[in-house]
This record gives sequence, C-alpha cells and structure tokens, in this order.
Amino acid sequence: MSTALLLDQARILIIDDEPANLKLLDKMLASQGYQQRILIQDARDVLARYLEARPDLILLDINMPHLDGYQVMEQLRDLDDPLAPPIVVLTAQHGRDYLLKALSAGARDFIGKPFDRVELLMRVRNLLDAQLGHRMLYQQKEVLDEMVRLRTQELERTRLKIVQCLGRAAEYRDNETGNHIIRVSQVSALLAKKLGWSDAYSELMLHASPMHDLGKIGIPDHVLLKPGKFEPEERQIINTHTTIGAALLDDDDSALLRLSREIALSHHEKWDGSGYPNGLAGEAIPQSGRIVAVADVFDALTSSRPYKNPWTIDNAIAFVRDNAGSHFDPAVVACFLAHLPEILAINHQHPE
Ligand code: C2E
Ligand code: SIN
Ligand code: SIN
Ligand code: FE
Ligand code: FE
Repeated sequence: MSTALLLDQARILIIDDEPANLKLLDKMLASQGYQQRILIQDARDVLARYLEARPDLILLDINMPHLDGYQVMEQLRDLDDPLAPPIVVLTAQHGRDYLLKALSAGARDFIGKPFDRVELLMRVRNLLDAQLGHRMLYQQKEVLDEMVRLRTQELERTRLKIVQCLGRAAEYRDNETGNHIIRVSQVSALLAKKLGWSDAYSELMLHASPMHDLGKIGIPDHVLLKPGKFEPEERQIINTHTTIGAALLDDDDSALLRLSREIALSHHEKWDGSGYPNGLAGEAIPQSGRIVAVADVFDALTSSRPYKNPWTIDNAIAFVRDNAGSHFDPAVVACFLAHLPEILAINHQHPE
C-alpha cells in the first residue's frame, strides 16, 4: 500500500470566510485530482466538520469573523487528536511576529495570498504525503497493539484453564463433583475482598485457592480414601498434603503460583498454634491461609467424604462460630458471619 495511491482520497478541510478564496482553492485542488474537499466559510462550523470528516490536511485563514484562525487552532489542539493533521495558514501578512504567533499556535506551514498555484499544490502534496504515512504507521501500531492484547488475553485464559485443571486434579480423588472447589474458591475470594484485599488480589485468590489440596495427589489411596477414622500414622501421612502441595507449586515467578503455594502450605494451620505443618499461630499464619481455612472447613463439613457424612449448614455455621479464636482467625470468622447471605447464595448456586 503506497501513500501515492491514497493521495487523491485525502480529506482536505478549507476554511476561509471569503467565498471567492474558498472557490479558488477548491478549484486548484480539484484540478490536481483531490476528491475530498470540505469547504467551510463560518469558522464556528470547524469543530463539528472536523470531527465528522477527520481531515488529513487543513488550510486555514487567519482573519475571520466569530473565530479567528488562532482560536480555531486552539479548539483543535484541545481535541488532543493523536492523528491531528497539519495546518497550513493562509495569510496576506508576512511579518516575523505574525508568523511566529501562527507557528506557536500550531500551524505547520504558510501560504501567502494571493495564492501561487504551483507553490500551494507542492506544499499540499508534501504535507499530505507525510500525514498519510503517519496515519498508516499509526494504524499499523493499533493493529499490532490489538494483536498483542488478544495474544495476552489468550495466554491468560490458557493459564487459568491449566490452573483450573490442577485444582480439579487436586479434588479428583476424594470428591464426586467439581462444585467443592468452586464454592471454596468463590467464598475465599469473597472473604478476601471483604477483608480489604484489592480487586486484583481477590481475583488471584479466586484462582489460587482451588489448589489448596493439590498435595492430596501424593497421598496413597488406602489413606485418602479410607472409609473410617484415621489411625495416628495415617494422620501423619495426610498432613503431608500441605508440604507436598507447596513443593508442587514451587515457582516464584508468578504471583498466582506464589499465592497458591502459600495457601497449600498454610490452610491447615490453626489460630491457636495447634495446626500443621508448622504449628504457626495468629498472624504468623499468612492471611490467605486463614481465609481458606474457614472457607475449606465450612465446605468440607457440609460435604460428603469417604470418612464422613455431610453436616447440616446450621451445624457447619455453628462450628465455624464456635472455633473462632481456637481453629480460626476471629476476624475472618466475623467477616464470614457478616456475609453469610452471600456465602449461602454461592452454596446455592453450586450445590453438591
Ligand atoms: P477435607 O475432607 O477436605 O477436610 C478439610 C478440613 O475440614 C479438615 O482438615 C477438618 O479441619 C475439617 N473437617 C472436615 N470434616 C470434618 C468433620 O467431620 N469434623 C470436624 N471437626 N472437622 C472436619 P483435616 O482434619 O486436617 O483433614 C485434612 C484432610 O484429611 C481432609 O480434607 C480429608 O481429606 C482427610 N481426612 C481427615 N480426617 C480423615 C479421616 O478420619 N478419614 C479419612 N479417610 N480422611 C480424613
Ligand atoms: C477438597 O477439600 O477436597 C476441596 C474442596 C473442599 O474442601 O470441599
Ligand atoms: C478427625 O476426625 O481426625 C478430624 C476431623 C476430620 O477431619 O474429620
Ligand atoms: Fe487440605
Ligand atoms: Fe480441603
């Protein structure tokens, strides 16, 4: 695509209060093959016509009633158009101050009156060539930006899909449906948001929390799927699902994986220090882990497991309330209780 091909389609705005001048300029440009000429006699019409025509070049008279050429340039400058066309000032005056004033107001070039046909057409052609090249580059850049945006979006979607697959792998062996993961993840994100996390971090929580039990992949069937209560040795084995998960998610480069790892490692710590794997207490436990602990236990209680029948919602709520300050962070429990209707709505939308 060459600019020469487009030249005769260039849009030229001609602004002059003198009809004879308009007519003359129009004729000169037409004779050269420029097909898209827009004539404006009243300077007050410029803004609207500019926005509608998106011209590639403007020929502008200075001395006009209502709005002079400087005021017109000021109006156009305020638009901050990234593709603002060059402005050629049409003037009978040639004083240095006068020219400087026009230049600093935004003029690119001058054409003296009376018009010299050859000079005028040469200047118009040069300026249009440059402007059309500029426009083409700008449009290519926009296309490239859009391609990068789409590609980034696709990568982001793929990453989320993979993360969701990992989350599903994590619960595949001891859960019948995928809804556990969805509920824990949505409740965790809701609590995070209500506890003051930014939108971006709450969204990260939404995608990281499904992996809290990823380490169960490494727990043998005879332990994980045991129909009854654990013996102490079995309890030792299941507790390693936290450290196994953290080892699987060992990647410092991605904020999502960092948060996932933190949650996998800390979601069974307890506020009073009696949890595992590290026996951390209080705020030494990452807040992400304290949040997921509440969401996870609430959901595990109301879910069916190989080793237990589901509890009623009321009993599960009572358990969370009663264990504030022992198992759970009291602030997270308070938040959980304050937002019960939303949490129950999430449960309702994703039933067993
Ligand atoms: P999970 O089933 O997802 O349970 C997550 C957490 O919810 C449990 O962490 C516990 O804090 C709470 N929870 C779930 N069900 C009950 C319940 O009936 N009563 C009470 N008080 N709390 C409950 P915990 O105990 O660290 O267990 C971690 C994981 O170990 C469990 O994940 C489950 O997969 C497994 N697990 C725990 N106990 C047993 C068991 O006796 N038998 C079997 N087969 N698996 C168990
Ligand atoms: C799991 O713990 O297996 C995943 C979701 C849940 O806690 O119900
Ligand atoms: C236990 O029974 O060992 C603790 C509660 C549970 O996970 O069922
Ligand atoms: Fe767990
Ligand atoms: Fe869990």
